[in-house]
Amino acid sequence: MASITIRNLDDEVKELLRRLAAENDRSMEEQARVMIRAAVDGQIGPVGRIDQIEKTLRELTSAHGVATPAAAPAGKALPRGLSGKRILVIIGGGIAAYKALDLIRRLRERGAAVRVVMTSAAQEFVTTLSVGALSADHVFTELFDRNDEHDVGHIRLSREADLLVVAPATADLMAKLANGHANDLASTVLIATDKPVLMAPAMNPKMWAHPATRRNRATLQKDGVAFVGPAKGEMAESNEAGEGRMAEPLEIVAAIEARLDVSPKPLSGRRIIVTSGPTHEPIDPVRYIANRSSGKQGHAIAAALAKLGADVRLVSGPVTIADPAGVKTIHVERAQEMRDAVEQLLPADAAVFVAAVADWRSENSAGEKIKKVAGEGPPVLRMVENPDILAGVGHHSQRPGLVVGFAAETQDLLRNAEAKLRKKGADFIVANDVSHESGIGPSGVMGGDRNRVRIVSRAGVEEWPEMSKDEVAARLAALIAERLKTTVV
Ligand SMILES: Cc1cc2nc3c(=O)[nH]c(=O)nc-3n(C[C@H](O)[C@H](O)[C@H](O)COP(=O)(O)O)c2cc1C
Repeated sequence: MASITIRNLDDEVKELLRRLAAENDRSMEEQARVMIRAAVDGQIGPVGRIDQIEKTLRELTSAHGVATPAAAPAGKALPRGLSGKRILVIIGGGIAAYKALDLIRRLRERGAAVRVVMTSAAQEFVTTLSVGALSADHVFTELFDRNDEHDVGHIRLSREADLLVVAPATADLMAKLANGHANDLASTVLIATDKPVLMAPAMNPKMWAHPATRRNRATLQKDGVAFVGPAKGEMAESNEAGEGRMAEPLEIVAAIEARLDVSPKPLSGRRIIVTSGPTHEPIDPVRYIANRSSGKQGHAIAAALAKLGADVRLVSGPVTIADPAGVKTIHVERAQEMRDAVEQLLPADAAVFVAAVADWRSENSAGEKIKKVAGEGPPVLRMVENPDILAGVGHHSQRPGLVVGFAAETQDLLRNAEAKLRKKGADFIVANDVSHESGIGPSGVMGGDRNRVRIVSRAGVEEWPEMSKDEVAARLAALIAERLKTTVV
C-alpha cells in the first residue's frame, strides 16, 4: 500500500487521528490505513467535512470494538501534571531500552506530547513499531532522511520540546555529548538543543565506574545536564550486580516533573514571612548570648513555601547555612532587629515563627570589650526581656490571616504549647520535643537533620512521626496552603 502523508492532513484531522491511534496502540499511518480499509469495505460512510470526522472516527471505533478517542479511561483518574508539555525521548542502545516503552506510556498518561528519537543501536533492542504505537507519532531515526515525509529536521526536533530525556543514556551517548560529537540524529539533536536535558544512564557497573564515563558525567553536569540514577542492583543482561541500573520509569517521570517545575502552586500570590535561626544578644563587641538553633528547619520551611509559589520573606538570625533559593532573605543578629524587620514586612497572608529568639538580652551591652581585672571578679550581667515577636504579631493590628509559632520544649511539651497558643494569638503551634527522651535530643533536633513535631491548634493535637526537616517543611507548607485556601487573596 502506498505511504500516507500524515503531515499534509489538516491539524484537526491529525489531532483526531493521533488520539485514536493512541487509544488503539497503533501508529498514525496504521490507524489511517485501517480507516481507509473500513471505508472501502463500507463499514463507515465517506469522510467529508471536519465536523463529520469525529462522528466517522467514532463509528469506526465502535465498529472495531475499541474505546472512542474522547472517552475517559475507566477507573482511577490519571494525573495530568504534564499536560501541554512536549518531551523528546531519546532511546539509546542498551538493554534498558525496553523500559523506555513504559516511560513513554507514563508520560502520555500524564498529558505530555511525546516524540521519540532512536539510535540505530536502540533499534536492536526495541522496534520503532512498538515505540511509535506508544508515542502515537512517527519515530525519528535518521539524520539524512530526504524521503521521510514526517521529517521536521534535527533543529526543529531539538527545539520543539520543553525537555529532552535520554533513556537509557548509554556510555556512548554520554561520551558523544560530553565531547561535542554529532554524527547521528540523537547526538546532533542533543547538541543542537537549547532546552534542558535529563539523562537516565544505564550500563554495566564497570562501564559506569570507568574513569572515562566518570569524566564525561562530570563534564555533562558542568554543562547543565541533569541526571536521574543509575541505581544499584542486578543487571538484566548478566549475573553482575552494582551501580548501573536505569532509574525506574516513574522516577524518571518525577525527575522530569521536577526539572519542568510543574508542581502545583497553591500559594501563588501569597506573601509569607518566616523567621529562622538563633539570635545573638551582645554582651560586648566580641561576646554574645546565643542558642543551638541552626536555621535548618526554618530555612527548609521558607524553601517549601516558595516551592508552592509563595512570595516568601525570610528573616534569618546568624546561621552558617546558605539562603534558600527563590526566597528574599533579610539578615539580622538581635531579637530587636528581628522584630523590626518582621514588622516592616507586614501586612502578609501568613507568618511562621521558627527562629529561636533569645528571651533575654544583657541590659547594657558594653561598647568596649569587658576586661578581666585581677581582684574584681566576674562581671554581673543584668538581663532584660526581649520583645516577644510571635505575641507582637499575633495581636498586631495588621495580624496576618494565619500565624504559626514554634515551641521547642524539653518538658511538658503539650501543656506549654497549648499555653503558648492561647497567650500569643497563634493559629497553631508546631511543638518539638527537644528532650533527650525524645530520642532525637537537644543536640539532635537543634542542628540535626531530623525532627518530630506535634501540631497544636484549637482543634486538638496532631502528632507527626519523626522525619527529615525537609519532610516536616513540605508537610507544614501543604498544611498552610490548605488553611489559606479559604482566605481570599
Ligand atoms: C546486548 C548488549 C547490551 C548492551 N547494553 C548496553 C547498556 O546497557 N549500556 C550501554 O551504555 N551500552 C550497552 N551496549 C553497548 C551499546 O549498544 C553500544 O555502545 C552502542 O554503540 C551504543 O550506541 P548508541 O549510544 O548510539 O545507542 C550493549 C551492547 C549489547 C550488544
